[in-house]
Amino acid sequence: MSTETAISERIAISRKAALDLQERIAALASCTDKPGEILRTFLSPAMEEVHQQLRWWLERAGLQVNVDSAGNIRGLHESESGDSPVLLIGSHLDTVPNAGAYDGILGVLMGLALVEGLRARRMPYAIELIGFSDEEGTRFGIPFIGSRALAGTLSEDHLLNSSDKSGITVREALAQYVEAHPEVTPSVFSKKTVGYLEFHIEQGPVLENRNLPLGVVQSVAGQTRCHLVFKGNSGHAGTSPMALRRDALATAAIWMTRCEIIATEVDGLVATVGQISVEPGGVNVIPGVARCSLDVRHADDVVRNLAVENILSEAHAIANRRGLAVETHIYHTQPAVHLDSEMIALAEKAARKAGFQSIRMTSGAGHDAMVIAPHVPSTMIFLRSPGGISHHPDESALIEDIEAAIHTGLCFLDEFAAFVTKKESDPRA
Ligand code: HGY
Ligand code: MN
Ligand code: MN
Repeated sequence: MSTETAISERIAISRKAALDLQERIAALASCTDKPGEILRTFLSPAMEEVHQQLRWWLERAGLQVNVDSAGNIRGLHESESGDSPVLLIGSHLDTVPNAGAYDGILGVLMGLALVEGLRARRMPYAIELIGFSDEEGTRFGIPFIGSRALAGTLSEDHLLNSSDKSGITVREALAQYVEAHPEVTPSVFSKKTVGYLEFHIEQGPVLENRNLPLGVVQSVAGQTRCHLVFKGNSGHAGTSPMALRRDALATAAIWMTRCEIIATEVDGLVATVGQISVEPGGVNVIPGVARCSLDVRHADDVVRNLAVENILSEAHAIANRRGLAVETHIYHTQPAVHLDSEMIALAEKAARKAGFQSIRMTSGAGHDAMVIAPHVPSTMIFLRSPGGISHHPDESALIEDIEAAIHTGLCFLDEFAAFVTKKESDPRA
């Protein structure tokens, strides 16, 4: 096939595939655990619905489909010769509360679009698609359960010390899932997995500001998640003089404004209090207890860890000053991750071959790629986020950017074929 034919054929394939992908995004957006918004959590009924729909599409595309013991759905497009290395392509299927339709799902459907775009062509490597069961951590608080299970990095602490609203632990949820799905397979990498590629919306404003459709991710910022409990005295809102109060919510509010100031003062640092609950919660009762979450991110682990230390010591200082106690607990840390230089170069070359300029980026958002990267050479390709909007129902992607990503992905598959073939013939290459 001449280069011109290849390019015009790829453009036609990408255009049709982009339209199909957008229809699929809309179809999967209706799989939710909470009518009226998009919410899919670890091993939930909505996740089962997504698995059923995905399985149908994957099997129709000729993939061998299975679900593993961590609830990750997987589909294999075999290589031309059978026993070959594997390229893993995927992302996560779960969501945050009141989510958009693209975060995670896009990366899984991109893998399907690329396999379909091969038109049954076999490569010198197998392609395995994966839809991770939990990346956001919405159900248990701790993120990356699906990719950590695959990477073998789910710790006893993860399994035993985080429980959901009904009080069951991750371990119990996994045991119940396996009992209800005896057909699941072990959550391990398939034979020789030699590369991981994740497509994802940028979830920020950079590509839009640069007027670019795609970015290649070279590193992912580290993250820390904490629980804080401010403990004061509840009391009568009408009879308690202000000077004698130990108001837990007012104390937490002062601390939260300090969080924002500390983060604003350090370039590239972000700190977020996303959850707060108050006890006893009466309109006419001074809050005795205020429970807060804290999410801190930075591309440099030293900066992030120092910021966490500062923010938590501020909580103690403010609580002491106001005669309250405060308990702080760091329950999740994920170091910053640099992605693989060869995979990054392949992705950039593929974008160029497809006719698109791209930039190298650091991701402020966490991704399964940061869990996979220490075990398998990985990179990510970002698609522009209109308005920089994400973790919000208005999250979207432009059809022309989806088309650009599919065209780039098809070029990536060919670049990866040459790369794998060269590696096989000369491992030192
Ligand atoms: O929170 C994050 O960074 C990602 O959306 N899980
Ligand atoms: Mn997300
Ligand atoms: Mn995501």
